[in-house]
Amino acid sequence: MLKRKILIVMVIIGTWIAGCSINESEDILTPGGRVALPEELSAGESTVFNSTSKAFDTPASWVTGELSALFLEGDALYDNPRVSDGNPVNGGLGPVYAGYSCASCHNDAGRTKSTLFTDGGTGQYGFSSFLTFIRTPNGQNHKNYGRVLHDQAVYGSEPEGKVRATYTEEHYSFPDGETYSLITPHYEIYDWYADSIPVEQLEMSVRTPLRHVGMGLMLAVDKDEIKELASIQYPEYGISGEINWITERNTKQIGLSGHKAQHADLTVELGFLSDMGVTNDRYPHEVSEGQSQVTGEYGIQITTKEMAAVDFYMHALGVPARRAVQNETVQKGEDLFYQAKCHLCHTPTLHTQKEGVKLLDGTNLPWLGGQTIHPYSDYLLHDMGPELGDDYSQFNASGDEWRTTPLWGIGLQEVVNGHSHFLHDGRARNFTEAIMWHGGEGDVSRQLFSKMTQEERETLIMFLRSL
Ligand code: HEC
Ligand code: HEC
Repeated sequence: MLKRKILIVMVIIGTWIAGCSINESEDILTPGGRVALPEELSAGESTVFNSTSKAFDTPASWVTGELSALFLEGDALYDNPRVSDGNPVNGGLGPVYAGYSCASCHNDAGRTKSTLFTDGGTGQYGFSSFLTFIRTPNGQNHKNYGRVLHDQAVYGSEPEGKVRATYTEEHYSFPDGETYSLITPHYEIYDWYADSIPVEQLEMSVRTPLRHVGMGLMLAVDKDEIKELASIQYPEYGISGEINWITERNTKQIGLSGHKAQHADLTVELGFLSDMGVTNDRYPHEVSEGQSQVTGEYGIQITTKEMAAVDFYMHALGVPARRAVQNETVQKGEDLFYQAKCHLCHTPTLHTQKEGVKLLDGTNLPWLGGQTIHPYSDYLLHDMGPELGDDYSQFNASGDEWRTTPLWGIGLQEVVNGHSHFLHDGRARNFTEAIMWHGGEGDVSRQLFSKMTQEERETLIMFLRSL
């Protein structure tokens, strides 16, 4: 009897010790040595405790040893401006381009402030940092132009055209009297280097860069969870998300990246070719091939191995930890976020698939697997109404549909990139305007937010700032 009791006690102690060690291995320490609070962990083991201008550009803690070297190699290739000559290290830019490095548009892995807002467009010399997709109304490339309008060119060549943005401003007030205004952009392309394309033959979509927060975890996300979210409908609120089923590399897959979820990877090869004019094994032909200004041999301007380093770098970036999670206003703001039904699209919690995720070169990253993450996105498409629409469909995504933008890290965009422009073309100048642009399926949230008191609206925004 005594023996049995001792055994039971031993089993209990054993279980307790085992429990402790499991907890201990799961504990994530902050740089100050304190155990992180669960609410702070935006991305499990990939959470980083950095709220400076490098918050988006810090490796996750599992990046050590050889992986650190690969991270730094990818980081440099991502940051360093490319040049036009045949320089084997960083050549290949142009002849026409939209950006001169990934970081020129994604400064510090964020969303570079655009001349769209400061100069009303490309500007004479200004560097835009946005992408303007162009095509004919039946989805073809225009003669002499590619998929993207290249508004920059190397010495001796001409940009394909320039973009001008003008805005009309409308003033509104909330039921409680607080005022706000929304600016509607109107875009025009001028200085076409070849044939001018008349407006009626032009479909265009102007987009600002996306923050590179949690890119690897986004690709590692449990696809069954996304399918499950797509199957849930909220007829009472007019909300139903849709998967953008895309075909890439001859495979039908769930689109995750891009403002319309039109890609299933981190678009490294496409970014180098289409945004910068840097040819590679997947895309060996200059975007401007066929234009009179492209002459001679250009060859392959970046290797597949180098692009794999950039792919790794983006997967390995950490996600900033949330701040002020115990602040009462922030907690009240979180309740209001749910009350305004924001969470029905900006899904607070998702999980990554157990096995982790594979890079383009096949390397597996197990550290990204089995994580509980808080992207505040369902990665699904929602019809946001004609005011936000642009007539530019991509796979299942119609002109009015956009992917729910993940909100993790959004509270640090101002610190990282020095501006608070939001939405696909950056037309919202702050959080309030971003919410008030939500139409279509997002109208329910816009209405509920409007009906709040000014203090409640500010409280909800305090929560967004903590993300
Ligand atoms: C000219 C500016 C520009 C340059 C240069 C650029 N990007 Fe982007 N990037 C954008 C814009 C704009 C978007 C949104 C595009 C969309 O919706 O299709 C974007 C989107 C992305 C996304 C999707 C992010 C998400 O949350 O879904 C990834 C990944 C990305 N870029 C990677 C890169 C890489 C890698 C490079 C360098 C090889 C690069 N970009 C160069 C402007 C740029
Ligand atoms: C019906 C789904 C839906 C609901 C509900 C919703 N959103 Fe959104 N949200 C989106 C989509 C889709 C976008 C991208 C729209 C675009 O870029 O034009 C977006 C964009 C945003 C952005 C801009 C992000 C950025 O970096 O550009 C913010 C901020 C935002 N939502 C906050 C909220 C808040 C706060 C609420 C609740 C008051 C809310 N949303 C409710 C779908 C939704």
